Order: sequence, then structure tokens, then C-alpha cells
Amino acid sequence: MKNFSKKIIIGNWKMNLDYKDSIILAKKINKNFRRKAPSSIVLLPDFLSLSEISKNFKNKNISYGAQDVAPFTLGSYTGEVSVESLKDLKCSYILIGHSERRKYLAEDKLISAKINNVLTNSNIIPILCVGESLEQKKDGETLAVIKEQLKEAFSKVKSLKGKKLIIAYEPLWAIGTGKVILPAEAVLIHKEIRKIIQTMFATSLPSEFGILYGGSINLRNYEDFKNIEDISGLLIGGASLKASDFSKIVNNF
Ligand code: PGA
Repeated sequence: MKNFSKKIIIGNWKMNLDYKDSIILAKKINKNFRRKAPSSIVLLPDFLSLSEISKNFKNKNISYGAQDVAPFTLGSYTGEVSVESLKDLKCSYILIGHSERRKYLAEDKLISAKINNVLTNSNIIPILCVGESLEQKKDGETLAVIKEQLKEAFSKVKSLKGKKLIIAYEPLWAIGTGKVILPAEAVLIHKEIRKIIQTMFATSLPSEFGILYGGSINLRNYEDFKNIEDISGLLIGGASLKASDFSKIVNNF
């Protein structure tokens, strides 16, 4: 399983912006983005803005994706958004199992079906979020928690052959708190995540694989995570909402 050829920087806008401001931000980022930037850039707006952004960015160097997806294929599931629609919009990525969804929207039980749905019914790259809470970290349970999250998430998947996959390691205590992990600590955990995937899918590994770090990345600390083989890129929340900050990170990472 080879690494992605470029580092990937993802802006997770969550539900911080309305439709109008999402389009404005996308346009600004597009203007600032250097075509020859060393890393790939991915925007994750809300579903409505995603539809508009997809029309403008179809042939650009900027990729986009969804923050979530239904666990089912097309059918009577009121309020859900299908992987089929996201394919129509030419989304490249779908975020699955973000800790805010796990916390506020009872996501845990749906994650394996969502992962399976995306892998079975599309070539969109799933980005699975994993990470431990502060208590779990203090109790020395970080790796056990992550292993369990990975086991559960892939419980319906038999093979990753020919697929592309991203895991985002986001410690809960670092998300939106201003506390950031030491890069060396992230590297150790990323190595373990890689090993777990290698053990789980020994004979059917994905063709391309990457592990992103996420949690309070900003202009002051992003460079600490640069040029590290085991860190395939960054998943950025707060700092992705400012076009100048986000563009600077992408253009320099
Ligand atoms: P943050 O969010 O960069 O604001 O900490 C990261 C995330 O939740 O993906």
C-alpha cells in the first residue's frame, strides 16, 4: 500500500458557515491557492454549499467532499444524503465518524455501515476519524481505543483491494481546544494505526493509504508537522475558516 503522492490538507468547515459565506470562502481560497502548491487541498463544506461549490470547482485543482453520508444506498430514508448523489457531484472524499458526530448525533453505531456503503458503492475516498478522549489518554488507553474504533469501523469490510483510504487521527482533547499533540507523539500513533490496518487487511490492503493528523492546527504550529513521512497531511477545522490562514498552510505544507 503506497502513500498518496502529495500531502493532503483538508478544511473541515463543520456547520460554522451559512450557504452564502461558504461560497464566499470557497472563492477566496480558490483565488489564493497556488496551482503548484506542494500539497493537495480539499474543502468539506455543508451539503448545500457542496452542491454549489462542486459546479465551480469541477475542473480546478481544488478537491471537495462531504462531512457525512447515509449508511444506506438510495431508498426511503428521510433527511439523508446518498453516496449516489455525492458521486454525481464528483466528490473526491467523504468524512466518516467525526468525533462531533459521534458525540452529538449517536454516530458510533452507523460508522461501519457508512464505511461499507462508500467502499462498496463508489470510488470516493473515505476519511475515517478516530481518536481518544482526555480521560482515555490519561488512563493509557489511547491505542486500545483506536484499535477498537478501527475494528468496529471496518467490521463489514472484507477487502480494501484497489481502494484508497484515509484515516484521520484526531485526539478529542485537541479538537477546538488550542492544545496540539507533539508531532513525535502523533508519529507513534500513526505508525500503530498503519500496523493495525496492515494486520486487519493483510492480503487485501488498499492501493493508496494515508493518515492525517487533526486537532487545533493553525498558522503557528502547522510547520511542526511538515516533512514527516508518517503524517500524510492535516485535517483542519477552525483555521480553515480564514481564507488567508488556510491558503498559507496549503501553499507551504
Ligand atoms: P480544529 O478542528 O482544527 O478546530 O481543532 C479539527 C476537526 O475537528 O477536524
